[in-house]
This record gives sequence, structure tokens and C-alpha cells, in this order.
Amino acid sequence: MKKLVLAATIALAATGTTVALADGKSTYQQACFACHGTGAAGAPKLGDKAAWASRVKQDMATLETHAIKGFSSKPGLMMPPKGGRMDLSDADIKAAVAYIVNQSK
Ligand code: HEC
Repeated sequence: MKKLVLAATIALAATGTTVALADGKSTYQQACFACHGTGAAGAPKLGDKAAWASRVKQDMATLETHAIKGFSSKPGLMMPPKGGRMDLSDADIKAAVAYIVNQSK
């Protein structure tokens, strides 16, 4: 399966087509929207500048680490590691973080 995905990725890259797996927007839609699109579980919503203001003041590396390893700023609030999608690569998560941050500041 991994080999197939790799082959498809290379084929797409060669034709200049957007590579779905490394595309932050599609990763966001598949893995992050459930919470960050709706505010479920207290998640800061995509595009909610006020909710993201203090978060984007941190550097990108911190936000990426929090998204990859998980993060809880207070009891009852929890960003699960990789949004629960442990099948996604760190690069996929970083691309999704970049997408969210760019839409939210
Ligand atoms: C099950 C719900 C849920 C899913 C799915 C989810 N998140 Fe989160 N996320 C949260 C919550 C809740 C917080 C706020 C945590 C806090 O501040 O304590 C959060 C916070 C964050 C933050 C801010 C961290 C910080 O330092 O302030 C980032 C970045 C983030 N999520 C990225 C993602 C990405 C990328 C995905 C998809 C791969 C994702 N999240 C999927 C619930 C979710």
C-alpha cells in the first residue's frame, strides 16, 4: 500500500498535479475539520482570528509539535496527537497546521 501511494505521489508530482497527501487543505478536511471546522470539543475554529491570536504568537514549530504530539492547555480541553489520525505522516500534519494558521490570522 505504501509503495502504491509513493508511486502515485511521484506520478502526480511529475505531472505537476497537487499531491493530495501532502496537501494541507485536504488533510485538514479529512482529519481536522470534525473539530476545527465546527468548534467540537472546544477546538479553536478555522478562521476564528480571536481564538487563534494567542496560539499563532507561538512559533510554527511549537504549533506543529502540539498538533503531532497532542496538547492540552487546561483540563477538559485536548488536541489529540495528529487529531487521532496516527496513519498520517508528520509532514501531512505540518501541512495541515500551515493551512489552518494561514486561514486563521
Ligand atoms: C477531536 C477533536 C480534534 C481534532 C480531530 C483535531 N483537533 Fe486540533 N485541537 C483540538 C482542541 C480541543 C484544541 C485546543 C487544545 C487546547 O488549547 O488545550 C486543538 C488545538 C490545535 C492547535 C493549537 C495548538 C496550540 O499550541 O495552541 C493546532 C495547531 C491544531 N489543533 C491542529 C490540528 C490539526 C492539524 C488537526 C488535523 C490533523 C487537528 N488539530 C485535529 C481538537 C482537535
